[in-house]
Amino acid sequence: MSVRHFLSLIDLTSEELDQLLTRAMTLKARHKMGKNAPILSGKTLAMLFEKNSTRTRVSFEAGMAQLGGSAIFLSPENTHQSRGEPIEDSVQVLSSMVDAIMVRTYAHETLERYAEGSSVPVINGLTDRLHPCQLLADLLTWREHRSEFKGARFAFIGDGNNMCRSYINASWQCGFELRIATPPEYAPEDDWLSLAPGQVRWGEDPMWAAAEADLVITDVWASMGQEDEHRDRMETFQPYQVNAELMKHANADALFMHCLPAHRGEEVTAEVIDGPQSVVWQEAENRLHAQKALLEFLLH
Ligand code: CP
Ligand code: NVA
Repeated sequence: MSVRHFLSLIDLTSEELDQLLTRAMTLKARHKMGKNAPILSGKTLAMLFEKNSTRTRVSFEAGMAQLGGSAIFLSPENTHQSRGEPIEDSVQVLSSMVDAIMVRTYAHETLERYAEGSSVPVINGLTDRLHPCQLLADLLTWREHRSEFKGARFAFIGDGNNMCRSYINASWQCGFELRIATPPEYAPEDDWLSLAPGQVRWGEDPMWAAAEADLVITDVWASMGQEDEHRDRMETFQPYQVNAELMKHANADALFMHCLPAHRGEEVTAEVIDGPQSVVWQEAENRLHAQKALLEFLLH
């Protein structure tokens, strides 16, 4: 059987995703009761970070430890990657020693090269194109609040980036309506927007996207690797700030999510992210529980 990777949410079938979220809820409940079972005893995860991380690193490392396994942190600076060892050589060696490899990198194609050369599952810990592990946590958080995806309207407001594309995949998988509002030059590519016709729609107007939304999501205006564009982006994205005024267009019981780290006063105001509709801390914690379910799925 060929090895299963998790490079994108659509590497899972809708049924597998549904079961994984259910399993994450069980693992979360067990963890809260102090009853983690050592289901990954003897297993090792290598984690290669070419970009910074707080949540992804800690959730994978803690998750492996809680399930009886272990994780190894690697970065270009402390491996031979920065000295020119080809990815194909590195991954062949790594995958002969560990049971799974998580990669956080820039180009999605780099991640695909890891996957092609690996004999063990490769997990996307974020690329410039996608951030599927975050979506596992977001979907789990939604489920804990509302259970149903079908019939819900989600609004993604800000940059048509890796989080936005991941939400497009999730809409296709789970069947919720997704309205995306971005400046035109930062809209997701047409082939992404056409992935789930009728379900995913793009517009320039953030108020249109937020109208009667059940969930409002945003992300940073300048992602990792775009630091040089920060100043220009701040001006362009200003009308897309998620603030109390914008939230008034959403349903009164709408939730607010952000993958974090957040910049209060830029993409979201403190009033919203620290307010009663925000579920960002639960969302962040759910990285741990959702990824434990993912690790179990891929390693068993
Ligand atoms: N949301 C997220 O992936 O956070 P980190 O960059 O801290 O891992
Ligand atoms: N879009 C952000 C997400 C960080 C978790 C980035 O890529 O930097």
